[in-house]
Amino acid sequence: MSTTLVQDVKKTFIETFKTEPLLIFSPGRINIIGEHTDYNDGFVFPAAVDKGIAAAVQKSDTGNSTAIALDLDSTIKFELDKLKPSKEGSWENYVFGVVAEIQNRNKVVGDFNIIFKGNIPGGAGMSSSAALENSVVFGLNELFDLGLSKQEMILISQKAEHNYVGVNCGIMDQYASMFGIKHSALHLDCRTVKSKPYTINFKDHELMLINTNVKHSLSDSAYNDRRSACESISELLGIKALRDATEADLETIIDKVTPANYQKALYVIQENARTVKAAKAIEDNDLDTLGKLIYQSHNGLSNQYKVSCEELDFLVDQAKKNKYVLGARMMGGGFGGCTINLVAKTEAKAFADVAAKAYKNKFNKDCSVYFIELSQGTHIVE
Ligand code: GLA
Repeated sequence: MSTTLVQDVKKTFIETFKTEPLLIFSPGRINIIGEHTDYNDGFVFPAAVDKGIAAAVQKSDTGNSTAIALDLDSTIKFELDKLKPSKEGSWENYVFGVVAEIQNRNKVVGDFNIIFKGNIPGGAGMSSSAALENSVVFGLNELFDLGLSKQEMILISQKAEHNYVGVNCGIMDQYASMFGIKHSALHLDCRTVKSKPYTINFKDHELMLINTNVKHSLSDSAYNDRRSACESISELLGIKALRDATEADLETIIDKVTPANYQKALYVIQENARTVKAAKAIEDNDLDTLGKLIYQSHNGLSNQYKVSCEELDFLVDQAKKNKYVLGARMMGGGFGGCTINLVAKTEAKAFADVAAKAYKNKFNKDCSVYFIELSQGTHIVE
C-alpha cells in the first residue's frame, strides 16, 4: 500500500470538506496465468499488488454528492436519485455505476463526498478500474452500514463495469482486488467464485512487469466481441460455458464456426487447462514448467485469441532471447498494457535495461518496469 497516496487524499479531503474521512486502500492486480478464462467460468491465477487506489470518503450534508479524481484534477457534483451513465470513457461512470448497482439491490446510500488518487497507470492491464469500483463500494458499505458481504461487493463492482462503463468483464479483477492476500496468489474458480491461496515464493526468481505504455482505443469493443464469440460457441455446444468443453467437443462443431472463432474457443479450452497445470507446477516448485506455460499462454493470446499487439509481442520476444527469463506473456485484457515476466532475481534489472533499450529503438517510445509485491485486498486504513 502507498502511504503517500493515502496521505494525499486525506489532506485534500480535510481541506475541501472540513471533516475527517474514512480511508480505504484498494489494490490493482497481476495475473500469473489464465487470461480471458474468467468469463468462460474457468480458472485464473491473480494476486493483488501494492499499487492501487486510495480513497477518502465521508457522508455529505449539503444535499448533494461530490467525487474528485485527484490525479485528473477533476470534480463532479451529482444527485443520487438522478444517476445515469456519463459519456463513454468518463471516470465518474465507475462511481455512478457502483452507487446505481447498490441502489438496484434496494440498499439506501445517502449523500457522500469522495476523493481518490491512484498509482496504477491507466491501461496497464493492472485493473485500476476494479480497484476504484471496489474502493467506492467498500467505503459506502462501511459509511452507510449496508451490510454487504465482500462477495456481494465484487458483484456490484462488476455490474457497474457492465452497465455504466460498458465492458462485459469477468470477475477476476474485482475478486483479486477485494480478496488479495499478502505474499499470495489466488487460484480462483470463476464458476464457484472461490479461490485457493498459494504462497508465492519463487526463491531466486521473481515476477516483474514491463508496461508497453500502449492502450489501443478499440480494446473495449474487442473485449466484448471476444466474450460474445465464446458465448455463441458454448451455445452451439449446448453447454453453459467453454469451461465445460474439451478440445474433442470443439472438433464436433468445426464446420459450424469460422476458423477464427474456432481458434478463439480452442485457446480458452487450452488456457484453462494451462492454469490448472500452473497451480500444480507452483505446488511442485517447478518454475521451468510454469515458465513454459506462461510462454504458451502468450502464444495463444497473440495467435489464437488475437488480443496482443506489436509492442507486447516485441517485449515477449525480448524475454525469449534471455535465458534468465523462464516465461513472459501479455497480462490482462490485452491490446496494450504490461507483460508479466518470470525472471531470475539477479538478472531482472539487466534484462529490463536491455528490453527497454531495444523497445525505445524499435518504437521510439519508453516502456516502464515495475517490481511488485503481492498484497492485501481492499481494506480500511486506520
Ligand atoms: C480484463 C477483464 C477481466 C478478464 C481479463 C482477461 O482485465 O476485466 O475480467 O477477462 O481482462 O483475462
